[in-house]
Amino acid sequence: MNASGAQKHTRRRHGPRDPNEAMTDLDSLERDLLAQVSAAPDEGALDAVRVAALGKKGSVSELLKTLGAMTPDERKERGPLINGLRDRVATALTARKTGLAEAALETRLASERIDVTLPGREAPEARGRMHPISQVIDEVTAIFADMGFAVAEGPDIETDELNFTALNFPPGHPAREMHDTFFLAPDANGKRKVLRTHTSPVQIRTMRSQQPPIRVIIPGRTYRHDSDQTHTPMFHQVEGLVIDTAANIASLKWVLEEFCKAFFEVDQVKMRFRPSFFPFTEPSAEVDILCSRKGGEIRFGEGTDWLEILGCGMVHPNVLRNCGLDPDVVQGFAFGVGLDRIAMLKYGMPDLRPFFEADVRWLDHYGFRPLDVPSLVGGLTG
Ligand code: DAH
Repeated sequence: MNASGAQKHTRRRHGPRDPNEAMTDLDSLERDLLAQVSAAPDEGALDAVRVAALGKKGSVSELLKTLGAMTPDERKERGPLINGLRDRVATALTARKTGLAEAALETRLASERIDVTLPGREAPEARGRMHPISQVIDEVTAIFADMGFAVAEGPDIETDELNFTALNFPPGHPAREMHDTFFLAPDANGKRKVLRTHTSPVQIRTMRSQQPPIRVIIPGRTYRHDSDQTHTPMFHQVEGLVIDTAANIASLKWVLEEFCKAFFEVDQVKMRFRPSFFPFTEPSAEVDILCSRKGGEIRFGEGTDWLEILGCGMVHPNVLRNCGLDPDVVQGFAFGVGLDRIAMLKYGMPDLRPFFEADVRWLDHYGFRPLDVPSLVGGLTG
């Protein structure tokens, strides 16, 4: 064994004796560890560096274990060096961990960043629109509900008896011809049902199923073979019916006037009752309201134009009898309003046909917000 071999052996057993050499080893270990710490790309990699240095079998931990086998003098010299190394590596690990966590948070914040100056996106219920007809039905219902009317309904496919005969249009009566009726194919008995030409048959249904006092409105679809700028084969009416022992023309006029004021949202309306003919009322009248149409804008309660908006009258005794009621005991009035027509008037729509074309651009323009439900207290039109 030569001298240098012996020396080597001794050094291996007891570690480096030369303080400078030992310092150099610790320095390079520290440099290496600190480099690994600062190069760790994420918290996982950093933890691997921590385990490799400070874990149970870590390089720094192994160094600390050697302190136990040293002489007091050696320990006095090496102890502070190794502990110092451990502390600096631990500090660097903590600092890097904090740095990585902050960087991760920054990245996340940047990726989740929202530009609060962007315009808000509309919710579906804010984007949808109510059709003007639905809106007008809701408005009319709110107004009449306030006067104590209930809503009644009937089918669109109606018997000839209810659409005509019970309403005092006897078979062959010329008034039937005025209705441009759509007939369905005859049934086994040769009877033809019709698409109801007006909402009046629901008067009969109501009087046959309810006892007076009756106070109902009947909004619904009606059909006639007709089509131009102000007529469509399917259109809408609202019927009114009041039956009790005292209902008279004065109360009819009051109800209609209150309705028009509330619906057109004006303090005053001027109405004109023109004598007319309907088989189911006697006397009968058609009602016009006064308006001005200056500059293409309609105003009610002023001007010189008369616009026809509804038909009405006292219920004919024959109609009462057809429903099992005694005209010497009860009486009443009825009226029928074209809903499409009053919608066009109120909202300034010149043509009826787009009502039924399902064009979303038209609906966007003329439609109503679904959550603005018409009411007399909250306002009919929001
Ligand atoms: N049913 C009639 C029509 O469609 C309208 C009408 C007129 C209804 C007078 C009524 C009324 O209730 O009394 O032309």
